[in-house]
Order: sequence, then structure tokens, then C-alpha cells
Amino acid sequence: MSSPDSRAPDLNRLYADHLTTLKRRADEALARGGFDHLVVPSGTQHYQVFDDRDYPYAVNPQFKAWLPLTRVPNSWLVYTPGERPKVVYHQPFDYWHVVPDAPSGWWVEHFDIVVIRKPEEALQQLPKNASRCAILGEPQSALGNYGAFKPNNPEAVINYLEYQRSYKTPYELALMRDAQRRAVRGHRAAERAFRAGASEFGIHLAYCQAVGQDAGELPYNNIVALNEHGAVLHYTELGRLPPKPVRSFLLDAGASCHGYASDITRTYAADTASEFQALIDAVDQAQLGMGRKVRDGVDYKQLHIDAHITLAGILKDFGVLKVSPETALETGVSAAFFPHGLGHPIGLQVHDVAGFAESDRGGKIARPPGHPYLRMTRVLEPGMVVTIEPGIYFIDMLLEEVKQKGHADSVDWSRIDAFRPFGGIRIEDEVLCTDGEPENLTRPAFAEAA
Ligand code: GLY
Ligand code: MN
Ligand code: MN
Repeated sequence: MSSPDSRAPDLNRLYADHLTTLKRRADEALARGGFDHLVVPSGTQHYQVFDDRDYPYAVNPQFKAWLPLTRVPNSWLVYTPGERPKVVYHQPFDYWHVVPDAPSGWWVEHFDIVVIRKPEEALQQLPKNASRCAILGEPQSALGNYGAFKPNNPEAVINYLEYQRSYKTPYELALMRDAQRRAVRGHRAAERAFRAGASEFGIHLAYCQAVGQDAGELPYNNIVALNEHGAVLHYTELGRLPPKPVRSFLLDAGASCHGYASDITRTYAADTASEFQALIDAVDQAQLGMGRKVRDGVDYKQLHIDAHITLAGILKDFGVLKVSPETALETGVSAAFFPHGLGHPIGLQVHDVAGFAESDRGGKIARPPGHPYLRMTRVLEPGMVVTIEPGIYFIDMLLEEVKQKGHADSVDWSRIDAFRPFGGIRIEDEVLCTDGEPENLTRPAFAEAA
């Protein structure tokens, strides 16, 4: 794609290199599984039970790894080592719906493309011997009599491909940076809507409008939380009326770019001179520091534990905790305020694959005991992109548990009462591990937009 913007990455060139990498990975994956062909269906449209209403179509991530196509159900990728890859592209004759455009873009020159009009026509275009194929996809993609050609999802192949997906190619990083810029446009519009007194629903609409993506196109459901709603980690209710008064706003919202996700959280105080704003600022500074530790050879589990100590230190500074950060970690009291993981891998999926992978042959690295929601237990390596998303929340259910477990004296309850009406704070960026300084992908997008 040519672009008048001289800063725009050359996606033609980057994609060619990306494809070379994918072929090399597929060669190895097929060799490990003992298969001759990699076959990947894009996936099918799903319908509500006893109804003809469809769910938003979600492309098979194994398919969008190869192709910037997120809206072409019933299509197939076929790769045979040493041969030019093939795309079986479903473009139905259909006057009820808008059908996918004819194939175009920076990918087409690299593939043999066969357009089919009916899903079952794909069968003639796929390798004849299904038993020689690693077919990666959902069961509903099966074709042929009695579903003879059906996904077998061989573990050896999937383990290898998913593990390798941890290492983002320059093409993927270019799209992920773009996903950051898109989301930041939404975050800025959302903050304006918040300051203008909009409801959660109104803020959500302002976000979608600014990003140019509808709810079904975003990489996950927007979390738009005013006041106490910030204490619900995945609050997605979208209240239709603004509360009175409005005190605080937590927005966790991303954007998609050719199938790649961003995942960004910011928290705001209505009164920027308030103590809650000071607490936000402290978490924000701490988050920046945590991002700077995303380095080759660093164990992400350790970053998560370190984050508990840092956040408990902030709570102590603000008079919420009465014990040392180390004691709060040991007794589980810090987890009452920070009850989720520090972050996760991100890429084609917002919670991307292989966060626990022990090796490219399988195996799982366990979470540290007492940290059941951590989604990344690996040692960081160059090319990995992870989120760094510390938070401090005032969650009644968890605070009650602190009392029940006999740690009520660890906390100044009058300080809890002061902060509870604000819900919580989360600050979330994406950070790329390199062989030198980490690259925060999110902050420059905010700086550019300012
Ligand atoms: N938006 C979901 C998450 O931060 O993981
Ligand atoms: Mn998030
Ligand atoms: Mn996240």
C-alpha cells in the first residue's frame, strides 16, 4: 500500500518478510506433526439457537495470522512446503448481504487465489488426502460427506505455531502500533465525553465514533465505568444515565487493525485537584516503571510479584494500608486491592496465546501460588509484546474477605470509605520487549495525539 505519509511503514515489504517467517514456522510445525499440508479454514458464521440471528463473525486466529482478512467466512488457506500458498476465497452470490470484496491489498500477489461461490466448493480446492493435512480450526468448518474433511488440530503443530506467535514480526508490530493510534483516538474522545457529563453508554458511542469501529469490530467489549463501577474488573453494562455526581472514570478499550488488537486502560478523576487524582498519578508513575522492566531474560512472574509490592507501597503512602508491602503480599491483603494479573501477551488475540508455554513442544509454566489470574508466566524475550496493567480497586467482596481472614488491622477502614466511591484505578499499556530498551507502544500514541 503506498501512502502519502512518509512515516507510514512499507506494508508490502514487511508483509513479504512476515510471510517468509510464517512459511518457515509452518515447515517446522508440519515436520514435527508429520504432515504434508497446513490447511486453515477462516471459520463459519454462528447462529443463535432456534433462530436465524447470527453472532458477530470471529475469524480463526490461525487464518488471520497469514492474511489481513477478518471478514471472509468459509475461506481457506492451504500451504504446502516449497509451494506457493493458496487462498480459497469465499465470495458468495448473495443479494441479502454485502459480500466480501474481490481479493485486493498487499497480500494478493503472494498467493494463488481461487474464488468460490458456495462453501462446499472449497472441497475440490483442498488437498485430496485429508489424513496428510494439519487442519487448524473449529469443528463447524468440516466439509464433505459426514464431515470427512475436518479440523484435526494436531497438538504438535499448534504448540509450535502458537509458541512462535509470541515473537512478533515487524509487519505485526506495524499493525499493532496502528491499533494503538486508533484506540487512542477513542480514548481522547471518551475523556472529552466524560468531562462533558455523558453517560457510560454515551461515552461508549463517542469512543466507537472516534475509532471508526462498531462494538463487534473492537477486540473486546469496552469497559466504560463511572464511579463505583470501576471496582468491577470487567464492567460492561454501559449505564444509560450518568450518575450524580460523577467522580471518576475508568476506560479499558482497544481497537483492531487488520486482526491485531490493542488493549488500553486509563483512569480519570472529575476533580483533578483531588486525592483520587493523586492516587491515579501514583499508579501511573508506577506503571511506567513496571513497563521499563520488560526486558530480555526477565521473568514476568517476578514483575507481577514486584507490582504487588509497588502497589502496596502506594496504598501505604496513601494511608490505606497499615502494614508493610511485604506483609501485605504475604497475607494476601495486597491481592484484595490488586486481584488480577499484571498483564498478558497480546497480538492477534487480546489475550494472546502461549502465555504459559514451557516450550514450543508444549508444557505449562504454573502460576505462582496465590495468583490465580496471572495470564503470563514466561521469561520475556525480544519480540514479545505484553500488557502492563497494574490496578488498585476498592471491591467490597474482597475487602470483606480481608476481615474474615483476620487481617482487618492491616487496613485503615476510614481510608477505604474515602476511596470506595471512586471504584478503582487501572493503567494499561502495551510494551514490546527488545534486546535493549523496552518500547512502550501506547504512550507515544497518546503523545502524538496530544
Ligand atoms: N481488557 C481486558 C484486559 O485488560 O485484559
Ligand atoms: Mn484492558
Ligand atoms: Mn489487558
